[in-house]
Amino acid sequence: MSPQDSPKPFPVLVTPRLVLRSLCAEDAPALHRVWTEPAVTEYLVLTPFSSLGETEGMMRILTDLWPFGQGVRWVLEEEGRVLGTCGFHNLAPEHRRAEVGYEMASEAWGRGLMSEALSAVLEFGFGTLGFHRVEAFVNRGNRRSEALLGRLGFHHDGCLRDYEFSRGGFVDQECHSLLDREWGEGRGALLPSSLRCGSVV
Ligand SMILES: CC(C)(COP(=O)(O)OP(=O)(O)OC[C@H]1O[C@@H](n2cnc3c(N)ncnc32)[C@H](O)[C@@H]1OP(=O)(O)O)[C@@H](O)C(=O)NCCC(=O)NCCS
Repeated sequence: MSPQDSPKPFPVLVTPRLVLRSLCAEDAPALHRVWTEPAVTEYLVLTPFSSLGETEGMMRILTDLWPFGQGVRWVLEEEGRVLGTCGFHNLAPEHRRAEVGYEMASEAWGRGLMSEALSAVLEFGFGTLGFHRVEAFVNRGNRRSEALLGRLGFHHDGCLRDYEFSRGGFVDQECHSLLDREWGEGRGALLPSSLRCGSVV
C-alpha cells in the first residue's frame, strides 16, 4: 500500500450490525465523547484530550491515512450511532506489515461488536491490502483488549519492556500478532459465518 496505489474511494465495510465508514467532520462531538471517556483512555498511550480541537486534530490525522497510503481508519456506526473507530496504521509495506488499533465507547462493550468489526477489517487487510502480518501493542493490564485479540486468533509474541513513554512513565506493552496464513486457516472456526466477513460497498 503506497500513496499512488491507495484504491479509491474509501472502502466502506458492512457487517451484520455495523457500518464501517470514513470519518467526517460531524463525528467530532461523538468521537470526543468516546476519546475522553476514562474507561476508554485508561490503557491508551496518549495524553487524554481536553478540548474538541484536539479531537479534531486527531480526526485529521486519521482521515489522512487512507488518501496518503499510510493506513486506514474506520468509524464504527450502529444504526446511525457512532461507537468508536478502528483501523490500520504504522504500515511497513516492504514487510507487508501493519498495526491494528481500535477503541469503542464503554456502553458498547460486551456485545461482540469490536470482534465483528475487526473480523471485517482483518479480512480487508489480509485479503485486499495484502498484509502478511498484523500486530497489536497492548498496555499491560488491558484484559479486554487481549481477550479480543485472542478471540480473533492473535498470537502473544511477548512483552516489550518499557516500550512507550506515557503520562510521565514508561509502560510495558504486550505484542500480539496474526499472520495471513493463520487468518486464512482460523477464521472459519473463530466466528460465526454471519460475523466473519464484511462486504465492501
Ligand atoms: C478493547 C475493546 C474494543 C473490547 O471491547 P469488547 O466489547 O470487550 O470486545 P468484543 O467486541 O470482542 O466483545 C466481547 C464481549 O462481548 C460478548 N459477546 C456477546 N456477543 C458476542 C459475539 N457475537 N461475539 C463475540 N463476543 C460476544 C463476549 O462474551 C465478551 O463479553 P465479556 O467481556 O463480558 O466476556 C474495548 O474494551 C475498548 O474499546 N477499550 C478501550 C480502548 C482500548 O483499550 N483499545 C485497545 C488498545 S490496545
